[in-house]
Amino acid sequence: MPVGSVVSSLHHYGDDVSHLLGSARSFVAASGYQQPLLYLSRDQLRANVRRFMAAMPSVAPHFAVKANPDPRVLAVLRDEGVNFEIASGAELNLLLELDVRPELIFYSNPIKSETYLREAANWGVQWYGVDSVAEVQKIHRIYPGASLYLRISTSNLGSAWPLEGKFGVGTRDARAVMSECARLNMDLAGITFHVGSQCSNVHNWRQGIRSARLYFRRMEEQGLVPRLLNIGGGFPVCMTSGVPTIEEIGTVINRELASFDPSIRVIAEPGRNLVASAGCMVTQVIGTAVRNGQHWLYLDTGVYGGLMELNERFHYPIITDRRGAMRNWTLAGPTCDSIDVCIKNQLLPATMRSGDLIYLPYTGAYTACCATAFNGFPIPDVVVV
Ligand SMILES: Cc1ncc(COP(=O)(O)O)c(C=O)c1O
Repeated sequence: MPVGSVVSSLHHYGDDVSHLLGSARSFVAASGYQQPLLYLSRDQLRANVRRFMAAMPSVAPHFAVKANPDPRVLAVLRDEGVNFEIASGAELNLLLELDVRPELIFYSNPIKSETYLREAANWGVQWYGVDSVAEVQKIHRIYPGASLYLRISTSNLGSAWPLEGKFGVGTRDARAVMSECARLNMDLAGITFHVGSQCSNVHNWRQGIRSARLYFRRMEEQGLVPRLLNIGGGFPVCMTSGVPTIEEIGTVINRELASFDPSIRVIAEPGRNLVASAGCMVTQVIGTAVRNGQHWLYLDTGVYGGLMELNERFHYPIITDRRGAMRNWTLAGPTCDSIDVCIKNQLLPATMRSGDLIYLPYTGAYTACCATAFNGFPIPDVVVV
């Protein structure tokens, strides 16, 4: 841990994050602080990819572009042999500009606009996620030669950002989708699921893979030929205690996969795990206030500026160089909106004041790319080193 810093979390982060912090500090010291920034390390991106691949050698990672669509990040991942998962035509275009071959791109958003579908089909994207009869019919109208994978619902228990409910079919709806594919002669050839983002419960993957095995049997009964198992995203970063490492998750997944026919292609869609620990947000205190005995710390970025995940469930370490007796603070963003409050009861030095910098490691995913300039506050600069 760097000398003189205060870390809000009890968890001891690793050397890689300490190194990133030191390097972000030096960058700001040398260039001067102008506005919030996300400092990203290419070396750490590479290390994360290699670790993921080593933990699950038979699983091909397709990076979920939504987690960090910065072209410089995508280029590093591409060069490390990672393939991609997209949610929109804009994400497809980013990859095409980087000369990623369309056959390496999976379109997993279960609901796709007709315009995006046409674009993807014209470029030669072959694989599409579905979870409704209407989506199968839409794809059939636009690209009858597509290959499909069915998103099933699975437990999201133990994930910090659950995704269940909005997407994923249960048994009865799955049967309807399979029948429609069989009727239309559509190539439904895979199963996918998502265990929820920042998932600490390895059992969710075990259960998802076991369910997929049962669904494969049902597909075969309908005359469909399963070829793809897509185990989705949700792989966490170890920023607090109690989070399993990628190796621990890999051990469970590899064991489950051992009983699958080797002809089944297995992919995953990690987003957060590949990029989060490569990034460190730097933000500045712009004001303090006391309201009804509660102490408020206003930052130059907040929920709208990329910190929508900074809350009790996503407890990023919050690091400042100020020392001294601690007190509870409520951390809020700079906009006039009352939802722009990040976290309550955050222990930080009582002497925090305007101009102090705050460093937030593990913020390489779902931060700068989620930011808006609402109220005229600038979105974070992204610095890639
Ligand atoms: C279809 C799909 N795949 C993968 C991901 C990536 O998830 P994570 O960043 O938790 O790995 C998401 C995230 O929302 C998703 O919707």
